[in-house]
Amino acid sequence: MSTVLFEKEGFVGTITLNRPDKLNALNAELVGELHRVLAEVRRDKDLRALIVTGAGDKAFAAGADIAAMSTMTGPEAKAFGELGHAVGAQMETLAIPVIAAVNGFALGGGCEMALACDFIHASTKAKFGQPEVNLGVIPGFGGTNRLARRVGIGRARELCFTGDVIGAEEALRIGLVNGIHAPEELLGKVKEIAAKIATKGPLAVAQAKRVLLRGLDVPLPTANELEVQAFAALFGSEDQREGMAAFLGKRPANFVGR
Ligand code: COA
Repeated sequence: MSTVLFEKEGFVGTITLNRPDKLNALNAELVGELHRVLAEVRRDKDLRALIVTGAGDKAFAAGADIAAMSTMTGPEAKAFGELGHAVGAQMETLAIPVIAAVNGFALGGGCEMALACDFIHASTKAKFGQPEVNLGVIPGFGGTNRLARRVGIGRARELCFTGDVIGAEEALRIGLVNGIHAPEELLGKVKEIAAKIATKGPLAVAQAKRVLLRGLDVPLPTANELEVQAFAALFGSEDQREGMAAFLGKRPANFVGR
C-alpha cells in the first residue's frame, strides 16, 4: 500500500498522506514518496490547483515518525530534515496553489507540511501544534519560521516554546487557518475553492503565488518591483487578451494557460 495517494479530477489534484494506522506520521518513506509525487505534479501542465489531506478521520499528520527518529544520529536527522524542507520548497514553488485540508491532528511535521501549503482550511476537529520541545527537539521541516510568517513571531514563539496544541477555533482566530468546516464537508469545501481557482488565468495565479512568496523575503520596494515586473509580463499572453476581451464582451473567460 502506497504511503501517498494521488488522484486527479479535472484541473484539481489531491494528495492524501496515507498511513492512517500511524495517524499519517511522516517517515522517510512517506516524505520521499511525497517528493516524487510532487515532482510529477510539477510536470503535469493540466493541473491548476492541488489539495493535500490525510487519510482516515483522525489526522492530517500527527508529526514526523517518532519511532523512526528515536534512533537517528545527527547526520541522519539532518538528511531527514533536508528531505522535509525539500518537500516544503516543492509545494511553495509549484506554479499552482496548494491548499491543505486539515482533517484532524496536524502536529509537528504535520503542521509544518500544512504551513508549506499556500493556505489551510480545517475541520472543526483539527488540532495544530509544534510539540517537538516535548521530545527534546525543535521543528525540522520549516515550521518555526513558516509559523512566524503565518501567525506572527509572538504566537509562533509561544507555540514552539510551550508545545501547546490548539483547536480549530483558535487556529482560525490567530490566522493559521483561513476557514473551518464540519468534518464531512471539509474536502468538498476545499475542492470548491480549488475548482474556483482553476477557472482563473493560470499564468496570473502562478505569478500572484510567486510574487506573494518572494515578497515575504525582500524589502517592500523590491517586492513592489517584483510585482510590477510580473504584472507587465502577463500582458501579451493569450490569457490576458482572453480575460479582458471576455469582460468587454460580457461573457465568461476561457483560460488556456498561455
Ligand atoms: N510518530 C510515530 N507514530 C505515531 C505518531 C508519530 N508522530 N503519532 C501517532 N503515532 C502512532 C502511535 O504510536 C500509535 O501507533 P500504535 O497503534 O502502533 O501504538 C498510532 O499512531 C495511533 O496513535 P495513538 O497515540 O494511539 O492515538 P491517540 O488518539 O491516543 O493520540 C496523539 C493521538 C496525536 C495525541 C498522539 O498520537 C501523539 O501525541 N502523537 C505524537 C504527536 C507529536 O509529538 N508529534 C510531533 C512529532 S515531531
